[in-house]
Amino acid sequence: MSMRNIPPVIVITGASSGIGRATAYAFAKRGASLVLAARRARMLHETAQECAELGATAMAVPTDVTDERQVQALGRRAMERFGRIDVWFNNAGVGIFGRFEDLPSDAWRRVIETNVFGYMHGAKVAMRQFRAQGHGTLIQNASIVGRIAKPDSSAYATSKFAIRGFSEALRQEVLDQPAIQVCTILPSVIDTPFFEHAANFSHHRVRAAPPVYTPEKVADTVVELVDHPQAEVVIGGFGKVGSFLKPLLGPFGTRINGRLLNAGFLANEPSPPTSGNLFAPMEDGRRVRGGWRHGPNNGGVPTVALLGLAALSMGLLAWQRSRADDRSRYA
Ligand SMILES: NC(=O)c1ccc[n+]([C@@H]2O[C@H](COP(=O)([O-])OP(=O)(O)OC[C@H]3O[C@@H](n4cnc5c(N)ncnc54)[C@H](OP(=O)(O)O)[C@@H]3O)[C@@H](O)[C@H]2O)c1
Repeated sequence: MSMRNIPPVIVITGASSGIGRATAYAFAKRGASLVLAARRARMLHETAQECAELGATAMAVPTDVTDERQVQALGRRAMERFGRIDVWFNNAGVGIFGRFEDLPSDAWRRVIETNVFGYMHGAKVAMRQFRAQGHGTLIQNASIVGRIAKPDSSAYATSKFAIRGFSEALRQEVLDQPAIQVCTILPSVIDTPFFEHAANFSHHRVRAAPPVYTPEKVADTVVELVDHPQAEVVIGGFGKVGSFLKPLLGPFGTRINGRLLNAGFLANEPSPPTSGNLFAPMEDGRRVRGGWRHGPNNGGVPTVALLGLAALSMGLLAWQRSRADDRSRYA
Protein backbone atom coordinates (compact mmCIF):
# COMPACT_ATOMS: atom_id res chain seq x y z
CA MET A 1 0.00 0.00 0.00
CA SER A 2 1.59 3.26 -1.11
CA MET A 3 2.15 6.09 1.33
CA ARG A 4 1.20 8.40 -1.55
CA ASN A 5 -2.42 7.25 -1.79
CA ILE A 6 -4.24 6.62 1.48
CA PRO A 7 -2.48 6.72 4.84
CA PRO A 8 -1.45 3.22 5.84
CA VAL A 9 -2.31 1.46 9.09
CA ILE A 10 0.93 0.69 10.87
CA VAL A 11 1.63 -1.41 13.96
CA ILE A 12 4.95 -0.62 15.67
CA THR A 13 6.29 -2.70 18.54
CA GLY A 14 8.84 -1.09 20.88
CA ALA A 15 7.34 2.35 20.20
CA SER A 16 7.93 3.76 23.71
CA SER A 17 11.56 4.78 23.00
CA GLY A 18 14.43 4.78 20.55
CA ILE A 19 13.99 3.60 16.95
CA GLY A 20 10.34 2.60 17.41
CA ARG A 21 9.42 6.01 18.78
CA ALA A 22 11.38 7.82 16.04
CA THR A 23 9.60 5.67 13.44
CA ALA A 24 6.22 6.49 14.97
CA TYR A 25 7.01 10.21 14.58
CA ALA A 26 8.19 9.70 10.98
CA PHE A 27 4.95 7.94 9.98
CA ALA A 28 2.89 10.42 12.01
CA LYS A 29 4.25 13.31 9.92
CA ARG A 30 2.77 11.53 6.90
CA GLY A 31 -0.63 11.25 8.55
CA ALA A 32 -0.56 7.49 9.12
CA SER A 33 -2.88 5.51 11.39
CA LEU A 34 -0.66 4.15 14.14
CA VAL A 35 -1.01 1.33 16.64
CA LEU A 36 1.83 1.64 19.15
CA ALA A 37 2.97 -1.20 21.42
CA ALA A 38 5.49 -1.62 24.26
CA ARG A 39 5.29 -2.28 28.01
CA ARG A 40 5.64 1.28 29.39
CA ALA A 41 2.06 2.55 29.17
CA ARG A 42 2.85 6.12 30.20
CA MET A 43 5.61 6.59 27.61
CA LEU A 44 3.48 4.87 24.98
CA HIS A 45 0.49 7.19 25.61
CA GLU A 46 2.86 10.16 25.49
CA THR A 47 4.16 8.94 22.09
CA ALA A 48 0.60 8.51 20.80
CA GLN A 49 -0.27 12.04 21.94
CA GLU A 50 2.81 13.49 20.19
CA CYS A 51 2.00 11.52 17.02
CA ALA A 52 -1.55 12.92 17.06
CA GLU A 53 -0.09 16.43 17.29
CA LEU A 54 2.07 15.62 14.23
CA GLY A 55 -1.01 14.63 12.20
CA ALA A 56 -1.55 10.91 12.87
CA THR A 57 -4.42 8.94 14.28
CA ALA A 58 -2.59 7.06 17.01
CA MET A 59 -3.55 4.44 19.56
CA ALA A 60 -1.39 3.10 22.43
CA VAL A 61 -1.77 -0.59 23.27
CA PRO A 62 0.47 -1.62 26.19
CA THR A 63 1.85 -5.03 25.22
CA ASP A 64 4.54 -7.44 26.33
CA VAL A 65 5.65 -9.10 23.07
CA THR A 66 6.91 -12.22 24.87
CA ASP A 67 3.25 -13.08 25.63
CA GLU A 68 1.63 -14.38 22.44
CA ARG A 69 -1.89 -13.67 23.72
CA GLN A 70 -1.01 -10.02 24.27
CA VAL A 71 0.36 -9.75 20.72
CA GLN A 72 -2.80 -11.38 19.34
CA ALA A 73 -4.82 -8.83 21.34
CA LEU A 74 -2.66 -6.07 19.81
CA GLY A 75 -3.59 -7.30 16.32
CA ARG A 76 -7.30 -7.47 17.28
CA ARG A 77 -7.21 -3.90 18.64
CA ALA A 78 -5.66 -2.70 15.36
CA MET A 79 -8.35 -4.49 13.32
CA GLU A 80 -11.23 -3.26 15.49
CA ARG A 81 -10.05 0.33 15.19
CA PHE A 82 -8.82 0.50 11.58
CA GLY A 83 -10.17 -2.62 9.81
CA ARG A 84 -6.83 -3.60 8.23
CA ILE A 85 -3.08 -3.71 8.91
CA ASP A 86 -0.86 -2.47 6.09
CA VAL A 87 2.52 -2.51 7.83
CA TRP A 88 3.74 -4.39 10.90
CA PHE A 89 7.12 -3.19 12.25
CA ASN A 90 8.66 -5.82 14.54
CA ASN A 91 11.11 -3.71 16.53
CA ALA A 92 10.74 -4.34 20.29
CA GLY A 93 14.08 -5.72 21.40
CA VAL A 94 16.51 -6.00 24.29
CA GLY A 95 20.28 -6.26 24.61
CA ILE A 96 22.68 -8.18 26.82
CA PHE A 97 26.43 -7.78 27.39
CA GLY A 98 28.91 -10.18 28.96
CA ARG A 99 30.77 -13.38 28.14
CA PHE A 100 28.34 -16.20 27.43
CA GLU A 101 29.54 -18.35 30.34
CA ASP A 102 28.84 -15.43 32.71
CA LEU A 103 25.25 -14.82 31.53
CA PRO A 104 22.49 -16.16 33.82
CA SER A 105 20.44 -18.62 31.77
CA ASP A 106 17.15 -16.87 32.52
CA ALA A 107 18.69 -13.65 31.11
CA TRP A 108 19.86 -15.04 27.75
CA ARG A 109 16.58 -16.97 27.45
CA ARG A 110 14.66 -13.74 27.92
CA VAL A 111 16.69 -12.11 25.12
CA ILE A 112 15.64 -14.91 22.76
CA GLU A 113 12.04 -14.77 24.01
CA THR A 114 11.84 -11.03 23.30
CA ASN A 115 13.95 -10.67 20.15
CA VAL A 116 12.96 -13.93 18.43
CA PHE A 117 9.69 -15.25 19.91
CA GLY A 118 8.37 -11.67 20.20
CA TYR A 119 8.97 -11.15 16.45
CA MET A 120 7.42 -14.56 15.68
CA HIS A 121 4.32 -13.67 17.68
CA GLY A 122 4.01 -10.43 15.70
CA ALA A 123 4.74 -12.02 12.33
CA LYS A 124 2.07 -14.68 12.85
CA VAL A 125 -0.63 -12.08 13.47
CA ALA A 126 0.63 -9.90 10.61
CA MET A 127 1.07 -12.63 7.98
CA ARG A 128 -2.36 -14.11 8.68
CA GLN A 129 -3.95 -10.70 8.26
CA PHE A 130 -1.86 -9.89 5.16
CA ARG A 131 -2.99 -13.12 3.49
CA ALA A 132 -6.61 -12.46 4.40
CA GLN A 133 -6.53 -8.94 2.94
CA GLY A 134 -4.11 -9.74 0.07
CA HIS A 135 -1.42 -7.20 0.91
CA GLY A 136 0.92 -6.00 3.66
CA THR A 137 4.53 -5.28 4.56
CA LEU A 138 6.31 -6.93 7.47
CA ILE A 139 9.44 -5.02 8.49
CA GLN A 140 11.77 -6.79 10.89
CA ASN A 141 14.39 -4.82 12.79
CA ALA A 142 17.38 -7.15 13.05
CA SER A 143 20.78 -5.45 13.35
CA ILE A 144 24.14 -5.45 11.63
CA VAL A 145 24.93 -7.87 14.49
CA GLY A 146 22.65 -10.27 12.57
CA ARG A 147 25.33 -10.35 9.87
CA ILE A 148 28.53 -9.61 11.81
CA ALA A 149 28.49 -11.04 15.33
CA LYS A 150 30.29 -9.25 18.12
CA PRO A 151 31.89 -10.51 21.31
CA ASP A 152 30.13 -10.18 24.67
CA SER A 153 26.79 -10.16 22.83
CA SER A 154 26.38 -13.84 21.96
CA ALA A 155 22.68 -14.14 22.88
CA TYR A 156 21.89 -10.88 21.09
CA ALA A 157 23.80 -12.02 17.97
CA THR A 158 21.97 -15.35 18.10
CA SER A 159 18.63 -13.54 18.15
CA LYS A 160 19.51 -11.21 15.29
CA PHE A 161 20.97 -13.94 13.04
CA ALA A 162 17.73 -15.84 13.73
CA ILE A 163 15.62 -12.91 12.54
CA ARG A 164 17.42 -12.83 9.19
CA GLY A 165 16.77 -16.55 8.65
CA PHE A 166 13.18 -16.24 9.82
CA SER A 167 12.59 -13.31 7.44
CA GLU A 168 14.16 -15.14 4.49
CA ALA A 169 11.91 -18.15 5.05
CA LEU A 170 8.80 -15.94 5.30
CA ARG A 171 9.83 -14.17 2.09
CA GLN A 172 9.85 -17.54 0.34
CA GLU A 173 6.43 -18.46 1.77
CA VAL A 174 4.77 -15.43 0.19
CA LEU A 175 6.23 -15.77 -3.30
CA ASP A 176 2.66 -16.49 -4.45
CA GLN A 177 1.52 -13.16 -2.97
CA PRO A 178 3.15 -10.29 -4.87
CA ALA A 179 1.53 -7.64 -2.64
CA ILE A 180 2.99 -9.11 0.55
CA GLN A 181 6.54 -8.06 1.38
CA VAL A 182 8.99 -9.09 4.10
CA CYS A 183 11.85 -6.62 4.69
CA THR A 184 14.71 -6.88 7.18
CA ILE A 185 16.69 -3.88 8.34
CA LEU A 186 20.23 -4.16 9.70
CA PRO A 187 21.10 -0.90 11.46
CA SER A 188 24.66 -0.14 12.57
CA VAL A 189 25.09 1.38 16.05
CA ILE A 190 22.21 3.81 16.70
CA ASP A 191 21.89 6.62 19.26
CA THR A 192 19.07 5.29 21.44
CA PRO A 193 18.62 4.37 25.14
CA PHE A 194 19.31 0.72 24.13
CA PHE A 195 22.73 0.66 25.82
CA GLU A 196 21.44 1.90 29.17
CA HIS A 197 18.45 -0.49 28.93
CA ALA A 198 20.66 -3.51 28.16
CA ALA A 199 21.40 -6.27 30.65
CA ASN A 200 25.07 -6.20 31.57
CA PHE A 201 27.12 -9.02 33.08
CA SER A 202 30.44 -7.86 31.57
CA HIS A 203 31.63 -6.01 34.73
CA HIS A 204 32.36 -3.02 32.46
CA ARG A 205 30.23 0.05 31.78
CA VAL A 206 28.48 -0.40 28.42
CA ARG A 207 28.58 2.40 25.85
CA ALA A 208 27.71 2.83 22.17
CA ALA A 209 30.78 2.24 19.99
CA PRO A 210 31.34 4.88 17.32
CA PRO A 211 30.32 5.65 14.66
CA VAL A 212 26.82 6.18 16.06
CA TYR A 213 23.98 6.95 13.64
CA THR A 214 20.64 8.66 14.34
CA PRO A 215 17.38 6.81 15.01
CA GLU A 216 15.78 9.16 12.49
CA LYS A 217 17.99 7.63 9.77
CA VAL A 218 16.50 4.21 10.63
CA ALA A 219 12.97 5.66 10.77
CA ASP A 220 13.35 7.22 7.30
CA THR A 221 14.52 3.87 5.91
CA VAL A 222 11.48 2.10 7.39
CA VAL A 223 9.14 4.69 5.85
CA GLU A 224 10.90 4.33 2.49
CA LEU A 225 10.56 0.53 2.58
CA VAL A 226 6.76 0.78 2.55
CA ASP A 227 6.86 2.20 -0.99
CA HIS A 228 10.10 0.55 -2.09
CA PRO A 229 10.45 -2.80 -0.33
CA GLN A 230 13.82 -4.53 -0.20
CA ALA A 231 14.74 -7.89 1.29
CA GLU A 232 17.60 -6.61 3.47
CA VAL A 233 18.87 -3.09 4.05
CA VAL A 234 22.03 -2.24 5.97
CA ILE A 235 21.75 1.18 7.63
CA GLY A 236 24.93 3.19 8.27
CA GLY A 237 28.21 3.28 6.33
CA PHE A 238 30.07 1.31 8.99
CA GLY A 239 27.74 -1.67 8.58
CA LYS A 240 27.96 -1.41 4.80
CA VAL A 241 31.76 -1.50 4.83
CA GLY A 242 31.71 -4.32 7.40
CA SER A 243 29.29 -6.35 5.26
CA PHE A 244 31.55 -5.89 2.24
CA LEU A 245 34.67 -6.91 4.16
CA LYS A 246 33.26 -9.87 6.08
CA PRO A 247 33.42 -12.50 3.29
CA LEU A 248 36.82 -11.18 2.18
CA LEU A 249 38.45 -11.22 5.61
CA GLY A 250 37.21 -14.60 6.88
CA PRO A 251 38.92 -15.69 10.13
CA PHE A 252 41.07 -12.54 10.14
CA GLY A 253 37.82 -10.51 10.37
CA THR A 254 36.79 -12.58 13.38
CA ARG A 255 40.03 -11.54 15.12
CA ILE A 256 39.60 -7.87 14.24
CA ASN A 257 35.97 -7.82 15.46
CA GLY A 258 36.84 -9.74 18.60
CA ARG A 259 39.44 -7.14 19.57
CA LEU A 260 38.03 -3.84 18.27
CA LEU A 261 34.34 -4.28 19.05
CA ASN A 262 35.03 -5.53 22.55
CA ALA A 263 37.00 -2.38 23.31
CA GLY A 264 34.40 -0.20 21.60
CA PHE A 265 31.35 -1.25 23.61
CA LEU A 266 32.91 -1.97 27.01
CA ALA A 267 34.45 1.02 28.78
CA ASN A 268 37.40 0.57 31.10
CA GLU A 269 35.20 1.34 34.13
CA PRO A 270 33.58 -1.15 36.51
CA SER A 271 29.84 -1.76 36.47
CA PRO A 272 27.69 -4.02 38.69
CA PRO A 273 25.68 -6.84 37.08
CA THR A 274 22.18 -5.87 35.97
CA SER A 275 19.36 -7.51 34.04
CA GLY A 276 18.46 -4.06 32.65
CA ASN A 277 15.02 -3.94 31.05
CA LEU A 278 14.83 -7.67 30.23
CA PHE A 279 12.16 -8.66 32.73
CA ALA A 280 10.61 -5.30 33.57
CA PRO A 281 10.81 -1.97 31.75
CA MET A 282 12.88 0.94 33.01
CA GLU A 283 10.40 3.67 33.87
CA ASP A 284 10.84 7.27 32.84
CA GLY A 285 13.85 6.63 30.67
CA ARG A 286 15.06 8.60 27.69
CA ARG A 287 12.67 8.98 24.79
CA VAL A 288 14.32 8.76 21.35
CA ARG A 289 18.03 9.57 21.61
CA GLY A 290 20.49 7.91 23.97
CA GLY A 291 22.94 10.84 24.07
CA TRP A 292 25.83 8.94 22.46
CA ARG A 293 26.42 11.21 19.48
CA HIS A 294 29.01 13.61 20.77
CA GLY A 295 32.61 14.30 19.79
CA PRO A 296 33.93 11.66 17.42
CA ASN A 297 30.93 9.43 18.18
CA ASN A 298 28.70 10.89 15.50
CA GLY A 299 27.65 8.98 12.42
CA GLY A 300 29.19 11.52 10.10
CA VAL A 301 32.49 9.64 9.98
CA PRO A 302 33.39 10.16 6.33
CA THR A 303 33.07 7.19 4.06
CA VAL A 304 36.67 7.92 3.07
CA ALA A 305 37.79 7.03 6.62
CA LEU A 306 35.78 3.82 6.52
CA LEU A 307 37.24 2.93 3.15
CA GLY A 308 40.67 3.67 4.63
CA LEU A 309 39.92 1.14 7.36
CA ALA A 310 38.84 -1.32 4.68
CA ALA A 311 42.06 -0.74 2.73
CA LEU A 312 44.12 -1.18 5.90
CA SER A 313 42.34 -4.46 6.67
CA MET A 314 42.91 -5.71 3.13
CA GLY A 315 46.59 -4.75 3.36
CA LEU A 316 46.97 -6.59 6.68
CA LEU A 317 45.22 -9.59 5.19
CA ALA A 318 47.52 -9.63 2.15
CA TRP A 319 50.55 -9.28 4.44
CA GLN A 320 49.33 -12.14 6.67
CA ARG A 321 48.75 -14.37 3.63
CA SER A 322 52.19 -13.61 2.18
CA ARG A 323 53.77 -14.52 5.55
CA ALA A 324 51.81 -17.77 5.60
CA ASP A 325 52.98 -18.51 2.02
CA ASP A 326 56.60 -17.78 3.03
CA ARG A 327 56.29 -20.09 6.02
CA SER A 328 54.91 -22.95 3.91
CA ARG A 329 57.58 -22.32 1.19
CA TYR A 330 60.51 -22.55 3.63
CA ALA A 331 59.02 -25.24 5.90
N1 LIG B 1 20.47 1.00 19.23
C1 LIG B 1 21.20 0.26 18.39
O1 LIG B 1 22.43 0.44 18.26
C2 LIG B 1 20.52 -0.79 17.53
C3 LIG B 1 21.20 -1.23 16.38
C4 LIG B 1 20.60 -2.21 15.59
C5 LIG B 1 19.37 -2.71 15.92
N2 LIG B 1 18.72 -2.27 17.05
C6 LIG B 1 17.42 -2.85 17.37
O2 LIG B 1 16.46 -1.82 17.38
C7 LIG B 1 15.34 -2.25 18.17
C8 LIG B 1 14.90 -1.09 19.06
O3 LIG B 1 15.94 -0.79 19.97
P1 LIG B 1 16.36 0.71 20.34
O4 LIG B 1 17.76 0.89 19.93
O5 LIG B 1 15.35 1.64 19.86
O6 LIG B 1 16.39 0.63 21.95
P2 LIG B 1 15.27 0.95 23.05
O7 LIG B 1 15.06 2.42 23.16
O8 LIG B 1 15.69 0.21 24.27
O9 LIG B 1 13.94 0.34 22.45
C9 LIG B 1 13.50 -0.96 22.71
C10 LIG B 1 12.00 -0.96 22.68
O10 LIG B 1 11.54 -2.30 22.86
C11 LIG B 1 10.57 -2.30 23.90
N3 LIG B 1 10.54 -3.59 24.57
C12 LIG B 1 11.55 -4.24 25.21
N4 LIG B 1 11.10 -5.41 25.71
C13 LIG B 1 9.80 -5.50 25.38
C14 LIG B 1 8.79 -6.46 25.61
N5 LIG B 1 9.02 -7.60 26.31
N6 LIG B 1 7.55 -6.23 25.13
C15 LIG B 1 7.29 -5.09 24.45
N7 LIG B 1 8.19 -4.15 24.18
C16 LIG B 1 9.44 -4.35 24.65
C17 LIG B 1 10.97 -1.15 24.81
O11 LIG B 1 9.87 -0.61 25.52
P3 LIG B 1 9.34 -1.06 26.98
O12 LIG B 1 10.54 -1.17 27.86
O13 LIG B 1 8.41 0.07 27.30
O14 LIG B 1 8.64 -2.35 26.78
C18 LIG B 1 11.40 -0.11 23.78
O15 LIG B 1 10.28 0.57 23.27
C19 LIG B 1 15.78 -3.50 18.92
O16 LIG B 1 15.24 -4.64 18.28
C20 LIG B 1 17.30 -3.47 18.75
O17 LIG B 1 17.85 -4.76 18.80
C21 LIG B 1 19.27 -1.31 17.86
